[in-house]
Amino acid sequence: MTERRVAVIGTGYVGLTTGACLASLGHRVVCADADPGKVERLRRAEVDILEPGLPELVQEGLDSDLLQFVGDTPAAVRDADVVFLCLPTPMGAGGAADLAAVEAVAGEIRAELPHGAVVVNKSTVPVGTADRVAALLGRPDVSVVSNPEFLREGRAVHDFLHPDRIVVGGAEAEAARRVAELYTDLAAPLVVTDAASAELTKYAANFFLAMKLSFANNLATLCERFGADIGDVTAGIGHDPRIGAAFLQPGPGWGGSCLPKDTHALLSVCEAAGIDFPLLRATIETNVEHQARLVERVAAQSSRGDGSLDGVRLALYGLVFKAGTADLRDSPALAIARQLRERGAELYAYDPALTEARPDLSDLVTLVDDPLKAAEGAEAVLVLTEWPDFLELDWEEVAARLDGRLVHDFRNVLDQERLERAGLVRQSIGSPYTMAG
Ligand code: UDX
Repeated sequence: MTERRVAVIGTGYVGLTTGACLASLGHRVVCADADPGKVERLRRAEVDILEPGLPELVQEGLDSDLLQFVGDTPAAVRDADVVFLCLPTPMGAGGAADLAAVEAVAGEIRAELPHGAVVVNKSTVPVGTADRVAALLGRPDVSVVSNPEFLREGRAVHDFLHPDRIVVGGAEAEAARRVAELYTDLAAPLVVTDAASAELTKYAANFFLAMKLSFANNLATLCERFGADIGDVTAGIGHDPRIGAAFLQPGPGWGGSCLPKDTHALLSVCEAAGIDFPLLRATIETNVEHQARLVERVAAQSSRGDGSLDGVRLALYGLVFKAGTADLRDSPALAIARQLRERGAELYAYDPALTEARPDLSDLVTLVDDPLKAAEGAEAVLVLTEWPDFLELDWEEVAARLDGRLVHDFRNVLDQERLERAGLVRQSIGSPYTMAG
């Protein structure tokens, strides 16, 4: 493998993973971030996101001198063969991706890029962004390539080093090939294409995943109604390789930093182009409706008996959008908590990843550091994140603290018999239940 000089702009979970992993593959990497405090911390291998294996890789990179952190973006690119843009593209007005950070960095580096460099869009950006960045750079000697990431939070290092595929797209085949070569040691299937196809691939992947989840959550409702079991039905269909078993676990709706943002961005792109994509609209709407249905289900079984939850105390187990992260961005648990709160519920929440005080959550929930404290005097428990810790809880103790018996297992992670032994009633998603209360 040819060692390349790489610059990575932005050290969020995508940028930092990209930088640290490329250094571990033997490339010389300079990571730049506009936050000087963060750069200082990274120079000491202090990683402020929960990403298994990442602090170790950062330390290895620093020790081998293959990985450096700087605050000066133009300086980072001056010597680079390949420059990765790993910048935030949050949901902007009307759901469209906000490209301000990408555009600002393009302006900052345009005069600094060495002759013949390749600039890579790694962040998820709308179709046409490679061309837009090329226009902003105004450097005919520099190529712009799209190389979308498919990294799951909490598994980013693993996903980077064991990719299902690598997609690289650009107008010049030579530039795309140069980017693909960075990954030679990973031996993954390679799709080399044009920039628009690479950009669309990322949106297509996240839309398809979201669609699978909305499908699974709707199917769960059918199972509840018709006396079927969602686990058996998804196993039954999942063995068909055309369908696949992954990503069919029902839950409290899908969330996180990517699927909601990317599905809305794709919808906004379609609307701007005058293209109707009913499946995409239905995927998003189904998620909203599914959460409303779960809230209704909790309310219908509360002691109030009138659909309101006025003064009803509930224990929430899990607030982050999925286990293994500390990320609350677009968390389905928060969406459900907000609706419960609107109906007047008093929420006591425990999440193993949220150990510090969170003033930003104080209007919504009382965050406690122990699941038993959350259960104290609550009428029911709602499991909203699939932390394995919840399976192992002392459910007898939980039952002793509760002022009710119902456990809404909205992640299907608990053991039915264990809860029954503790005198509790477990209701999962996607299998029939008898209304309590
Ligand atoms: C996602 C994509 O998987 C990844 O390829 C992309 O690059 C970024 O977006 P991530 O946001 O880390 O990754 O989360 P993911 O593991 O995909 O989960 C997304 C949401 O779906 C979570 O709320 C999760 O709890 C939910 N989910 C996932 C389910 O409800 N059931 C499942 O079977 C899988």
